[in-house]
Amino acid sequence: MKITFCCTDTKAEPWLQGLQAAFPQAEIAVWQPGAPVADYAVVWAPPQQFLDEQQGIQALFNIGAGVDALLQRRLPPGARVVRLDDAGMAVQMAEYVCHAVIRHFREFDQYEASMRAGQWAYRKPRLRQDLPVGVMGLGVLGERVAKALAQFDFPVNGWSRSPKAVDGIRTFSGQDGFNDFLAASRVLVNLLPLTPETQDILNRDTLARLQPGGYLINVARGAHLVEDDLLALLDSGHLAGAQLDVFRTEPLPAGHPFWNHPRITLTPHTSARTLRDESIAQIAGKIAALQRGEAIAGIVDPARGY
Ligand code: NAP
Ligand code: GLV
Repeated sequence: MKITFCCTDTKAEPWLQGLQAAFPQAEIAVWQPGAPVADYAVVWAPPQQFLDEQQGIQALFNIGAGVDALLQRRLPPGARVVRLDDAGMAVQMAEYVCHAVIRHFREFDQYEASMRAGQWAYRKPRLRQDLPVGVMGLGVLGERVAKALAQFDFPVNGWSRSPKAVDGIRTFSGQDGFNDFLAASRVLVNLLPLTPETQDILNRDTLARLQPGGYLINVARGAHLVEDDLLALLDSGHLAGAQLDVFRTEPLPAGHPFWNHPRITLTPHTSARTLRDESIAQIAGKIAALQRGEAIAGIVDPARGY
């Protein structure tokens, strides 16, 4: 069995060691132009040349949950695309989003400002019933996030493409349910995959449908958000603030208006990182299952885009 590794911006050695430990008999190497076609590839943002040369490869294991960048390329016909499903990301995403919602709800920014000013200043407690949170996308990450928020007794709404029932979550689905979902939410968490249907979905029209004083948490992809529309709704006061982890251009360019906006908090695409050991274990388990002819979870449907 041959496994090739082609991941931009990723230190290869520990991945190769981990995969080799799982498959001592396999030939495992970093891809070089002109290398023979492998059985399986571990990839992140591979060059088109790699995909063009690997005609006949069985599966491409993407070392992230989102496959939007990979699906924009021309793929070897017949190659299955397999995403990471969870592999330690869901708990990180739940931490990140709960932190952002609670920080906003409990006004910890204002308490920090008071502390820095040497002021012992109470604020009137807010009611969590007034802060319904809407989670867009109820997949591997979205469902975990929605359930974690519900543990803190926030009213939680969830929106997905197909109808879903999740304990403790009020669910909506499809285009028909979208406006009702938005109208029922004051905080909006985006955990959709980036597809032609979801690009620019966070825009003036959709964000304006949130309850007044809305708060946006975008942890999916930068191209979901129309940036100028967010700025306009923050200026108008319809939105109270935003926590952003992903951007149309990454790294966020110097001088971008988000950097110094008083009501935007940002992080550098770090809400749920790929954890190497968990990911290697998951990929190795799936390769072993494929070798035995068994079905695996996490196969992407290129027509659907996720
Ligand atoms: P997933 O398991 O594929 O779930 C996607 C969810 O979105 C599903 O519930 C799906 O509905 C729903 N959906 C897709 N298209 C839709 C549409 N047009 N309308 C309504 N709902 C739609 O994805 P995941 O693992 O939860 O990850 C979500 C995204 O998070 C990834 O694609 C990636 O972009 C992002 N991400 C970001 C980071 C970070 O560090 N910032 C880390 C990991 C992932 P159905 O249930 O009906 O299919
Ligand atoms: C990170 O953004 C991922 O898709 O895993």
